Amino acid sequence: MALHLKQVIPWGRSYAEYVRMFDLTERDLSMRIVSCADGPAAFNAGMRGMGRRVISTDPIYIFNQETIRRRIEETRDDLAAQVRNNTDLYVWREIPTPDDLIRKRMEAMTEFLKDYAESRDEGRYVAAALPNLPFADASFDIALCSHFLFTYSDRLDAGFHIESVIEMCRVAREARIFPLLDADSMPSERVGEVTSELGKKGFEVRIAIVPYEFQVEGNRMMVVSSG
Ligand SMILES: C[S@@+](CC[C@H](N)C(=O)[O-])C[C@H]1O[C@@H](n2cnc3c(N)ncnc32)[C@H](O)[C@@H]1O
Repeated sequence: MALHLKQVIPWGRSYAEYVRMFDLTERDLSMRIVSCADGPAAFNAGMRGMGRRVISTDPIYIFNQETIRRRIEETRDDLAAQVRNNTDLYVWREIPTPDDLIRKRMEAMTEFLKDYAESRDEGRYVAAALPNLPFADASFDIALCSHFLFTYSDRLDAGFHIESVIEMCRVAREARIFPLLDADSMPSERVGEVTSELGKKGFEVRIAIVPYEFQVEGNRMMVVSSG
């Protein structure tokens, strides 16, 4: 897998954020979940803390803990500056200030790094890049994807999105993608085409409101199933 570390901007969310971004119920959390493009998020670590198991996939998992830790350090100040220069794009309700946000993200990534180092041979972190997932058909109940599809609408075309969602639906009964905004916090221009092309292929697509909004108007997820 030819991934250059310079292409990766690590920014990981917490277990609690995942639960709300994807409106995961207790029942959902007890199912077989694969979480795609998980990067340095702490969802997997949080699940382990609850005595549950989830598989995370991301191309950065070809790197070891120390390499990912260094990359987090290298990019942290730029990301922090971007947030401080664009405060109007976010809802500062539960996370009151940019400093709180940076602290929260660093806490989540620190939790990820610890779990990642401890779990290398448990198979919970699998190096894989969409639109391909190295799992058999119907291996999971739910496939999640946070802040990758739709977020990078400027560099990932509609074809990539459609192939990726179909792949997520091949390995799981249902795919959930959050948010439906691009990196500038604008509604992703890909949502319409992805919805209509998947509909033509017989998939059921719905948009659900979720109890999480940090990017303004970013409280919607796409739920796709084979119908
Ligand atoms: C902004 S981060 C999101 C991390 C995590 N999902 C979260 O919400 O906290 C985007 C992630 O997408 C990953 N990524 C890049 N190319 C990918 C691909 N082709 N397939 C899957 N993930 C990819 C990056 O390595 C990075 O970890």
